[in-house]
Amino acid sequence: MESTVLSACLLLLLLGWGDGAVLPPDVLDTAPEPSMVELIQLFQDFMSRFNKTYSNPEEQHRRLLIFRQNLATARALEEAGQGLAQFGVTRFSDLTEEEFRAQLLSPMPGHTLRPAAQSPSKPAPPSCDWRKAGAVTPAKDQGLCGSCWAFAAVANIESLWFIRHQDLYNLSVQQVLDCSRLQVACGGGFPWDAFTVAWMYGLTQEEQYPYIGCQSLCKSGHQAVASIKIFQFLSSDEKKLAAHIATRGPVTVGINANLLQFYVEGIITKNMTCHCNPEEINHAVLLVGYGLAPEKKTPYWIVKNSWGPEWGEEGFFRIYRGGNACGIASLPVTAMVHEGAFDAAIESCPP
Ligand SMILES: *[C@@H]1O[C@H](CO)[C@@H](O)[C@H](O)[C@H]1NC(C)=O
Ligand SMILES: *[C@@H]1O[C@H](CO)[C@@H](O)[C@H](O)[C@H]1NC(C)=O
Ligand SMILES: *[C@@H]1O[C@H](CO)[C@@H](O)[C@H](O)[C@H]1NC(C)=O
Repeated sequence: MESTVLSACLLLLLLGWGDGAVLPPDVLDTAPEPSMVELIQLFQDFMSRFNKTYSNPEEQHRRLLIFRQNLATARALEEAGQGLAQFGVTRFSDLTEEEFRAQLLSPMPGHTLRPAAQSPSKPAPPSCDWRKAGAVTPAKDQGLCGSCWAFAAVANIESLWFIRHQDLYNLSVQQVLDCSRLQVACGGGFPWDAFTVAWMYGLTQEEQYPYIGCQSLCKSGHQAVASIKIFQFLSSDEKKLAAHIATRGPVTVGINANLLQFYVEGIITKNMTCHCNPEEINHAVLLVGYGLAPEKKTPYWIVKNSWGPEWGEEGFFRIYRGGNACGIASLPVTAMVHEGAFDAAIESCPP
């Protein structure tokens, strides 16, 4: 029974991944089924790589079984991904899908809240990556706090501030958690809760007000280095969204993040998205650019997550662009930062 759900293809892929060697799918498909011994080896590697300990042997065994189930899910996702994305072991591989959602995600009912707003009508250039302009700070780690909404909004302000003023700061997410009006800030919120804090107080630097991953008292007296004048909802039309990003900068969006529990790297393709209902937004992230993969001419978004730089593609992921994949275009919102009279704005996004 042990070997039926875990595919050898995934096993080899996982073993190869740490060394940067990913075997081509046709090699993997001929590999034999792994044994329980191999599964345990994989699980031990997982435990040491992510520094996991369990309170007792029963719990460890239970986590092993969840791990095995998750490998099977990752394998199924990878098959649906047509070779463009790798799914496998992540630091969430010992969590059930329910635990993952409860610990990291927070449902965001958003559809009724979205008024229309103006977006540029100019067509979008074929590709754009604000990371190449130095406009995006490294991906942060929200830890076990449902603070994605604050990370996504703060990352939006960081990038827009840089594009407008050429000063890149890591801005304080903790300040946003502490000073928001939310009773339980780690229980989830909306990006506009964070924009409201930035609008009222301005944001100080992360160094001055470091992240502790739980809500505390709002501390004043820190020097604000960035502030916003307003925030606005954008059109869900992905062509307009791309044009907006290329000309103005990164945009905060909601997403159904269920698939991301298993994401390793690559582009999450269109026909995987039946695994993430676009109506069930439960995470907030930042669109920092987009492109077109030469393989199968797949258009994709480049997205900044808040699960640390070790997760995904140095903390980022790519997902199909054009079909509201996992609801990624259903809730775009952005701040508008204050403009300094003498500052020059960066005019366009590097391709
Ligand atoms: C691993 O966990 C132990 C105990 O929780 C902790 O003391 C140690 O700093 C952790 N190491 C790393 C690399 O995270
Ligand atoms: C995904 O879509 C492609 C065509 O776009 C199709 O050939 C393939 O069978 C699909 N895969 C799955 C698992 O549905
Ligand atoms: C932001 O913080 C990261 C660590 O998360 C650090 O590597 C980076 O240099 C910082 N960037 C700035 C502009 O302070």
